[in-house]
Amino acid sequence: MKRLLVLAAAVTALFANAQGYPGSKPITFVVPFAAGGPTDRVARDLAEAMRKTMGGGANFVVENVNGAGGTIGATKVAKANPDGHTLLLWHIGMASTAGLYRKLQYKPLEDFEYLGMVNDVPMTLIGKPQLPANTYRDFENYIRANSGKLNIAHAGLGSASHLCGLMWQSAVNAKEAMTTIPFGGTAPAMTALIGGQVDLMCDQTTNTTAQIESGRVKGFAVTTAGRLSNHKVLKDYPSLQEMGLKGFNLTIWHGLYAPKGTPAPVLKQLNDAMKLALKDPEFIKKQEGLGAIVVTDKRMDPAGHKAFVTAEIAKLKPLIEAAGKFAD
Ligand code: MLT
Repeated sequence: MKRLLVLAAAVTALFANAQGYPGSKPITFVVPFAAGGPTDRVARDLAEAMRKTMGGGANFVVENVNGAGGTIGATKVAKANPDGHTLLLWHIGMASTAGLYRKLQYKPLEDFEYLGMVNDVPMTLIGKPQLPANTYRDFENYIRANSGKLNIAHAGLGSASHLCGLMWQSAVNAKEAMTTIPFGGTAPAMTALIGGQVDLMCDQTTNTTAQIESGRVKGFAVTTAGRLSNHKVLKDYPSLQEMGLKGFNLTIWHGLYAPKGTPAPVLKQLNDAMKLALKDPEFIKKQEGLGAIVVTDKRMDPAGHKAFVTAEIAKLKPLIEAAGKFAD
């Protein structure tokens, strides 16, 4: 496998040099949320893996441009110079914000080149350490008994944590039971939760696993259809479906995007290097340790990626419209 990676990197470098890309100018992954959060984590792990597979001394940097549920960072990339040096690493937000924001400054399916998907990440419902509940049942009863007195944190309208909170509150019919508190990402929201400044949050396992394992926050349930029985930390937490929330099944996915008009040979180099990175044992180990599942199906390719996001936009739009709250 190592020899294959080296050979592939050499071929990619040879081809890259022929085109002068990437050259010495760094390739920037724009992350539309705060540093230290789950999306930032995926971007930094992927950048590290692609440094090996891109070859040619390619240099990757991560730039955090947060706000408006991720749409500010996405706008920056949609309007960036399509030279392969400014890319967007984003998640289900690409689909959820398409329904939630009526005045986006870009068209999710027209203004980006789709470079392939990276992973699928389950979410977890968590609470501050002081919350007087230790099981999901206790937790739901506590929410009902304290309707209107509690709050739920999220990373902005349209973010994964917001979408999950929205779906859970509608599923347990607790829409009015709590106020929502937005942050620039779930990294700062997690700090507030650990400190007891906010009561609960729904966040990706890539950001919650270590906090639950250490006891800094309380875990209550996972959002996947079934339990994460292979995960050493999260295996004993019930799924929300198990707790009676019929059909509740939410997994977050991450993909890579370039501005529309980025040259085809550059897109191919990036997709080739990314696909090799997704096979890198170190990258896989890191991701799986945090509960993420690295993509191995046709979504790794631009066409499969775009088809998937198109379907997700169609799936989420009615849900968001049912919630009846738009972000703008
Ligand atoms: C983050 O990286 O902060 C998250 O992905 C935010 C979110 O969408 O909940």
